[in-house]
Amino acid sequence: MEIQNSSILMVFLLFFILCCILIYCKTKVQCNCKICHAYITSSWSNEFDNLCDWYTHLLKSSPTKTIHIHVLHNTITSDHQNVEYMLKTRFENYPKGKPFSAILGDFLGRGIFNVDGDSWKFQRKMACLELGKMSMRSHAFEVVNHEIDHRLIPLVLSVSRKDHKVLDLQDVFKRFSFDVICKFSFGYDPKCLDESLPMSDLTNAFDLASQLSAQRAMKPYQLVWKIKRMLNIGSEKRLKESIKMVNMFAHEVIRQRIKLGSCSNHEDLLSRFMATTKDPNYLRDIVISFLLAGRDTVASALTGLFWLLAQHPKIVATIREEALRMAKHEALTSFPQLHELNYLQATVYEGMRLLPPIQFNSKFSQIDDILPDGTSVKKGTRVTYHPYAMGRMESIWGSDYLDFKPERWLKDGVFYQETPFKYPVFQAGHRMCLGKEMALVELKCVVLSLLQRFDIELETPAGTLKFSPGLTATFAGGLAVRFSERDM
Ligand code: HEM
Repeated sequence: MEIQNSSILMVFLLFFILCCILIYCKTKVQCNCKICHAYITSSWSNEFDNLCDWYTHLLKSSPTKTIHIHVLHNTITSDHQNVEYMLKTRFENYPKGKPFSAILGDFLGRGIFNVDGDSWKFQRKMACLELGKMSMRSHAFEVVNHEIDHRLIPLVLSVSRKDHKVLDLQDVFKRFSFDVICKFSFGYDPKCLDESLPMSDLTNAFDLASQLSAQRAMKPYQLVWKIKRMLNIGSEKRLKESIKMVNMFAHEVIRQRIKLGSCSNHEDLLSRFMATTKDPNYLRDIVISFLLAGRDTVASALTGLFWLLAQHPKIVATIREEALRMAKHEALTSFPQLHELNYLQATVYEGMRLLPPIQFNSKFSQIDDILPDGTSVKKGTRVTYHPYAMGRMESIWGSDYLDFKPERWLKDGVFYQETPFKYPVFQAGHRMCLGKEMALVELKCVVLSLLQRFDIELETPAGTLKFSPGLTATFAGGLAVRFSERDM
């Protein structure tokens, strides 16, 4: 009898929830404009491989370089003056906002990527103290080169010698950057890039958590995921399980760090935060945020870069020549020497122009406002700037904007940087990426050491790319390449 009652109650509850969803959808999000219709029905995918390519097409066609997706309450811009306005001039009016905190809260908690105000200021100050230290770059250089010499190169050597086997470079780079960020930020080595390439439930769980969290933001009906979460069903159930696994890892990192305590002679980011709080959940949020910051972005940048390099042998040859010129004077063993390689730096920037690891970034307007291009923004609107589209704007890069051309970053052979508001790959303004210098060290060292020792051949077909949805750009299906040893 009791079971029967609870079943009836359950049916009633589901019926009630369904009615709520229908009423909500009818009243809240209805727009029949061409763009919204294409978004809701996904008809854009008949013409474009990726949502970011469709947005780029729309932004290019718009006279203001700004568009509106009404069903998402989202204004998207590729105008660099709008970007400067949001990220610097009127920074206080464009925080990350509560809607995003809710969407990413289960995964990122109160970590730096998901907070505003005092909590953000405190975490930024702490991270600045660690990442802004003069010694940081040479420490990053050491950690990165140790991982390259002891794991990356031996792995590629062994695979290339075994019948010239195919390697999924995206998977390799995710493992590489995971090891590096853990060693650098937490003094912990997860050994993901061990030569046996151990199956990692953890990295799969991390990918899934990032993917499912990002998918929440793409839904026009936010109530749907909230109800699924309440009932613990479908994608929300999987998200909960994957976050549980990621949490277990984060707590293990913290436990190990506590155990190491004063025995360790190296200060790292985690120990700096541990000195200010004992709250394990807060420390967990810090660990997750830095894993996301340092793993997925770097892996994505490297994967994109090698996809481009494998199709541009002349650029590969120029990188090798530049390194050879430098090596004639002295071996490349220190950070200052890396800094001298202007063509290499230009190549890295150019790769991320075409394939930025974070393709778009959203804020929420606090009050009614007008953007520099005249677009009016109502309070509570999500305003997104789009580095992927901005990297493909003729108005910014000229008529050869689709060409992979490192020379565009050089003036008299010396690296010259555009204003970050035209190239917000690392964001810009008050919340600019704090790991930029470390990321550049990582990217340049990997490119150089692999290109000096190996030739690369692409197995993944050249041409258009398909991305998987997620917080950072990921190639659907990975990046299959073959390496062969060069005569040195
Ligand atoms: C190619 C590699 C990287 C790219 C393209 C990149 C890009 C970005 C972007 C776009 C943001 C703004 C995110 C947002 O506010 O939503 C950001 C923030 C941040 N990044 Fe990076 N990042 C990279 C590597 C790293 C690394 C290796 C670290 C850490 C060592 C790092 C640490 C941070 C931190 C702490 C923030 C938060 C800044 C704040 O909110 O004040 N990043 N990064």
